Amino acid sequence: MEHFSEPYRIKVVESINLISREEREKCIRAAHFNMFNLRSRDVFIDLLTDSGTSAMSDNQWAGMMLGDEAYAQCRNYEHFVEALRDIFGFEYFIPVHQGRVAENMLFTTICKPGDYIPNNTHFDTTRANTMHKGAHPIDLICPESKDPHSQYPFKGNMNVARLEEFIRETGVEKIPACFLTITNNSAGGQPVSMQNIRETREVLNKFGIPLYFDAARFAENAFFIKMRETGYADKSTKEIAREMFSYADGVLMSAKKDGLVNMGGFIGLNNTELERELTNLMILIEGYRTYGGLAGRDLEAIARGVHEVLDERYLDFRTRQVRYLGELLMQQGVPIIEPTGGHAVFVNAGEFLPHIPAGEFPGQALVVALYREGGVRSVEIGSIMFEDVDPETGEKTFAPYELVRLAVPRRVYTNAHLEHVSNCLKKIKEYKDKLCGFDIVYQPKFLRHFTMKMAEKQPQEAPARK
Ligand code: F0G
Repeated sequence: MEHFSEPYRIKVVESINLISREEREKCIRAAHFNMFNLRSRDVFIDLLTDSGTSAMSDNQWAGMMLGDEAYAQCRNYEHFVEALRDIFGFEYFIPVHQGRVAENMLFTTICKPGDYIPNNTHFDTTRANTMHKGAHPIDLICPESKDPHSQYPFKGNMNVARLEEFIRETGVEKIPACFLTITNNSAGGQPVSMQNIRETREVLNKFGIPLYFDAARFAENAFFIKMRETGYADKSTKEIAREMFSYADGVLMSAKKDGLVNMGGFIGLNNTELERELTNLMILIEGYRTYGGLAGRDLEAIARGVHEVLDERYLDFRTRQVRYLGELLMQQGVPIIEPTGGHAVFVNAGEFLPHIPAGEFPGQALVVALYREGGVRSVEIGSIMFEDVDPETGEKTFAPYELVRLAVPRRVYTNAHLEHVSNCLKKIKEYKDKLCGFDIVYQPKFLRHFTMKMAEKQPQEAPARK
């Protein structure tokens, strides 16, 4: 791979520590093998998520000092709306403290029990919030995404033909909105093409169904369009982003990803009546309309972050760094979802650990092994997260893939850190056949991965070490 380097230098550093193997063993057991229970200080390289884990720039921190903390109509809200209008182009922007609040508010307002929400692929909180209102989340991903080795450039796309069929079968009155998740997180952080966005819009136009974007990683999606789609090489990522959003009726965004902030999100839309309803609901649960659960300084950081994230030198480095980690793993024969997406490398644990059946969670086996081997925290994206149980028959359907996500926080880790992760996987490969599966010993009703407890099927045999 040709040399590439960060288009920024480091001004503040944060110490991280690799505790001993014995200490790691104690920590993972005390956490009941759930990575969400591990203390951050016991983790060396934290690839649990790219959400809220970005390093802010000096420009954003400078903006934080300009926080106007007035209850109503603070100056930073004006900057926030101005910045968002410039990129997303909607009339109204409602700040919220994070993405899932936007989901909850929108679905509370537009869904009734028995409705259906089609999406290329729902993220887990979007799925859970839809179900919480008694509606059904429907994933209609394109067929190319089903082959983990296919090099198709837009594996996040909606299956537009299937969408049209689905609407005809289900009936327009049961579909209050359709979503596109850009990039498609749960399908490997894969992008959606402009052509696919346009075609989705055309189908929805036939039925008068509104289109919303789940735009947590919109800038990465725009950059992939620039790099991979005919006709976009000479357009700026901002122009591409504007075109993407021109096809939508609204947007939900967790600013904790491509907003380059640690907390925040928003809803953007043009519909005046819906904006009123949402604003009133927000005042009830989040706060007044000009701060929505955030401080004035947070709004300022978002206003600056959404512009910074569109810097093409940054996006070039960002996508190359993620690809670098993917290539290191492939060189070692660790199977991943190809091509690498925008924010993470997804290791195909089902393929890597074929001796562990889906019902014993091969992804979790690898997640635990990575922590034991090198203090690396990652997350299972497989049947722990997406197992479905038929309420009548009790029959289980497992996730299509048993994956481990190595999410790369923005502007945080160097390539040397990622080399540590790849070295850990290289070592694990030597004893991978000895890894064993997990049983769930406690789980809540929904979003179980956050709080569940697990037990290892049989005691782990420590790998031979020098
Ligand atoms: N939509 C997508 C596509 C997401 O990836 C997330 C969060 C959300 C919505 C919800 O946003 O966390 O601000 O409430 N994704 C994180 C992740 C948690 O690790 O992928 P939130």
